[in-house]
Amino acid sequence: MNFYVMTLFPDMIISGLNTSITGRAIDKGIISLNAVNIRDFTIDRHNHVDDYPYGGGAGMVMQAQPVYDCYKYIENKIKKKPRVIFMTPAGKTFNQEMAVNLAQEENIVFLCGHYEGIDERVLEMIVTDNVSIGDYVLTGGELPAMVMIDAISRNVKGVLNNEESAVTESFYQNLLEYPQYTRPETFMDKKVPEVLLSGHHANIERWRRNQSLLKTYNVRPDLFERAKLDKKDIKFLREQGIKINDK
Ligand code: ADE
Repeated sequence: MNFYVMTLFPDMIISGLNTSITGRAIDKGIISLNAVNIRDFTIDRHNHVDDYPYGGGAGMVMQAQPVYDCYKYIENKIKKKPRVIFMTPAGKTFNQEMAVNLAQEENIVFLCGHYEGIDERVLEMIVTDNVSIGDYVLTGGELPAMVMIDAISRNVKGVLNNEESAVTESFYQNLLEYPQYTRPETFMDKKVPEVLLSGHHANIERWRRNQSLLKTYNVRPDLFERAKLDKKDIKFLREQGIKINDK
């Protein structure tokens, strides 16, 4: 899987993703990361990539030409038309399902904007998807692109080892993770829940599932609505005084 990032700050992308699990996947050749500097494609003699907005207003707008030429350079390398994801707070909100689906692509190009935006004409010409990472405004698209690349990569075969993969399971069922504990058994008078020391696997599994259910119900009612509940889940939640409709 090949990631291309069109950006004015390639170092930010490279240094952010060349460490930890994504860094290991890049070293192994399971994913490749190409940060392409949009400024390298300017034909302005002062290397400018932005200009004042037509119609007036604050801020500067990134010009169409360097962005278009940067894209064409990547398209020529790939030799086919890739998905081009424009990072923008005005896009569809990124989620785990999108990460899983995008992990099937062979090539993905990210376009990171800065200043007040990018000339609409080039966006119309090259962008296939507009994606936001949440309802807040960042100074540029680099952090959002890095967030997406990290989340997508985890779903590419071979990126996570077996132990790391197992940890992902619960989110697929629209439930949040149960709490984890490690040694020592007592930390500042706080004890590890007894059941986890029991060695009784079925009880441990049930306890963890119950913790996930309660946590999701309390913290993310929107996710909880979509969670798949079985008979034991419903029984437990009713015992907790939580009203559940049988579907
Ligand atoms: N660019 C600026 N803010 C953003 C956000 N929240 N998501 C994606 N791209 C952005």
